[in-house]
Amino acid sequence: MSTAGKVIKCRAAVAWELKKPFVIEEIEVAPPKAHEIRIKIYNSGICHTDNHALVGGMAGVKFPIILGHEGAGIVESVGEGVKSVKPGDHVIPLCSPMCMECPCCLHPDSNFCVKNDVGKNVGLMLDKTSRFSCKGKLIHNFMSSSTFTEYTVVDEIACVKIDPKAPMDQVCLIGCGFSTGYGTVLNTAKVPPGATCAVFGLGGIGMSAVMGCKVSGAKRIIGIDINKGKFAIAKELGCTECLDPNDFDKPIHEVIVEMTNGGVDYSFECIGNVEVMASTILASHYSYGVANIIGVPPSTARLSIDVMWLLTGRTLNGAFLGDWKAPVSFPGLVQDAMKKKFDLGALVTHKLPFEKINEGFDLMNHGKCIRTVLDF
Ligand code: APR
Ligand code: ZN
Ligand code: ZN
Repeated sequence: MSTAGKVIKCRAAVAWELKKPFVIEEIEVAPPKAHEIRIKIYNSGICHTDNHALVGGMAGVKFPIILGHEGAGIVESVGEGVKSVKPGDHVIPLCSPMCMECPCCLHPDSNFCVKNDVGKNVGLMLDKTSRFSCKGKLIHNFMSSSTFTEYTVVDEIACVKIDPKAPMDQVCLIGCGFSTGYGTVLNTAKVPPGATCAVFGLGGIGMSAVMGCKVSGAKRIIGIDINKGKFAIAKELGCTECLDPNDFDKPIHEVIVEMTNGGVDYSFECIGNVEVMASTILASHYSYGVANIIGVPPSTARLSIDVMWLLTGRTLNGAFLGDWKAPVSFPGLVQDAMKKKFDLGALVTHKLPFEKINEGFDLMNHGKCIRTVLDF
């Protein structure tokens, strides 16, 4: 019996309150309205940004909410006017939607659509209503996607069709973490062959940046982390050396400047710590280095730098979702993953059934995993 047009009751991990564990609840998911898509989620990665939202690091996030923004699934039904997908299509919900008509979408170098909810955190569909409810209460959505639920509804601009042969338990990472780290290296920094790179933070984002440096042909890739447990995988993925700042009695950027005869060509901050961001700038060569900020700090944090750091010739970049125009680029990234241009499977160190989501967050917060992927 078709569920199209009907309210679906299913399980979701609801974050009722700030800083409280998720509760698996039965929720109601309303049918998609015009230009909306209802998706059965099969897999979702757990990203640090979900934790940011949960603990209050992202200003304005509204509760109760269904978090999760790194998923893959199959279209269950579509609202009126939807042309890009049909029921049965395999898709990735987009945490960075693109309307393809605003100045940002039309600009060749931008992907941050005016309809992106990050920073605003309205937590609703574009028509300012929600499709989720539980026990009579409205539940908000997150980053236009909400993937910690068996069924979600997204606006058509927040969904892209992918190859149905792609393994959803790996390509879900293309929805955020992988694309963010990898794309900043390829699209934002445009690392050329032979470059020397430093990657600060070897989590899911940092490891993906390492993979990007490797694919770009960097000759030296220095990984930096305070957790030595990350070094073995980092070296497998392409790091030529790994450093733990705690092993040195001077700041790590000074160590890197000495090791590289003045500083690296390209540095990447993949943690979300403003002090490490300063170090990331200083580890790049004072005259031609390019520092790239990827990590998301708490929204109240401020980066303080000496302007001379830039006036000597350095470049400072920031990017969202690796500067990919997701609806255009993700299908190709999925193909690249299937052709093993990079090994997404290496990032998935843990898989858990969806009900064990709180365990997944513990693994992440205790530095025990690169990525945990939930199975629905
Ligand atoms: N110096 C070096 N490494 C550090 C430091 C530090 N001061 N603090 C933390 N780290 C390391 C951790 O040990 C961990 O390996 O940074 C890594 C961060 O990895 P994850 O926690 O797995 O985070 P990830 O999902 O990769 O996201 C990183 O990018 O998208 C953003 O919101 C996200 O801000 C977060 C960042
Ligand atoms: Zn993310
Ligand atoms: Zn747009």
